[in-house]
Amino acid sequence: SSLLRARKTRYAHQEGARYVDAGRVESFKPGDVKAVPEAMLFLACLEDSRFIALSRTCTHLGCALSWDDKEGKFVCPCHGSTFDRAGVVLTSPALRPLDFYPVRIEDGQIRIDVSNPQRRESFDAAQTTNV
Ligand code: FES
Repeated sequence: SSLLRARKTRYAHQEGARYVDAGRVESFKPGDVKAVPEAMLFLACLEDSRFIALSRTCTHLGCALSWDDKEGKFVCPCHGSTFDRAGVVLTSPALRPLDFYPVRIEDGQIRIDVSNPQRRESFDAAQTTNV
């Protein structure tokens, strides 16, 4: 059915998932953003304590972003795009939010499905994971 197809698109690839451990829930406080070097991505704990895993690849032309903790935003070294901690564009030329990865939390352990980057056009709470 088309409903099933829509669900599949949104939560694709349950099988074949490849999870990377990204630390314990209690090691994050709201607003924290940490690099997950094994997976070349960032894990952010949003102000409402929900987690989102973000690609570090700029959606303009693909440069690697860094997190500016003082400014509280992702910064692209190439053409100056910036993104907030949910991966949403603050400054162009990038137009699209950062890709995100599904997050699972099991017994306080945060696990990111690195096999499954998800393209998106805007932020939605469904892209985040609650404890
Ligand atoms: Fe990031 Fe151009 S590649 S702003």
